Amino acid sequence: MEEERKMSESVRVLIEEKKLNERIAELGAQISSDYEGEEVCLICILKGSVFFTCELAKRITVPVTLDFMSVSSYGASTVSSGVIQVKKDLDESIENKNIIVIEDIIDTGRTLKYLLEELKKRGPKSLKLCTMLDKPDRRVVDVSTDYTGFEIPDEFVVGYGLDYAQRYRNLPYIGILELG
Ligand code: IMP
Ligand code: MG
Repeated sequence: MEEERKMSESVRVLIEEKKLNERIAELGAQISSDYEGEEVCLICILKGSVFFTCELAKRITVPVTLDFMSVSSYGASTVSSGVIQVKKDLDESIENKNIIVIEDIIDTGRTLKYLLEELKKRGPKSLKLCTMLDKPDRRVVDVSTDYTGFEIPDEFVVGYGLDYAQRYRNLPYIGILELG
C-alpha cells in the first residue's frame, strides 16, 4: 500500500515590498530619461510579469502603450522543460515601435532568447529587455538585459507575479519557496 505523504510548503522573504517598489521607481525613472521625447510599448509576458509591468508602467513619464504575450516554458514544476510555445500572441504590430519586453525572471534564458529572436523579425524601431529578477548562475543560453531589478541567487522564488503551480503570484514581496 502506498504511504500518503503531505509536502509542506513555506515562503521565506527575499526582497520585501518596500525594496521592490523603490527599485521599480528607479527603473521607471531610468526608462523615462532614456526614452525622452519618444513613445514606448511595453510587452508584458503573461502571467508572471503582470504585477511588475503595472507598477513599472505607472512610473514611466513618456507615453506608454501596453501589449501582452503568453509563452510557456515550464509546466507545473520547478524544472525547465526547454520547450517554448506561444500561447497568446500580441494584439498589435510592433513595426517601427520602441519595444521593451518586460519579464518577471530570467533563469536559463531560453524563453527570452526565443522570444527576442521572434520579435526582432517583426521590425521594431528598437528592442530592449527589462527583467524584475535575474538568476545569472542558471544561464544556459546567452541573453543580455538592458534593465534589471535585482540579481538573485539560484533559488526558486515566488511572489510579485511569480508562481509555483499557479499559486503565490499575489504575494506583495519576493520569497524563496521552501518545500519540505
Ligand atoms: P527560462 O526560460 O529558464 O529563463 O525561464 C523563464 C521562466 O521560467 C520565467 O518567466 C518564469 O515563468 C519561470 N521561472 C524561472 N525561474 C523561476 C522561479 O524561481 N520561480 C518561478 N518561476 C520561475
Ligand atoms: Mg511561470
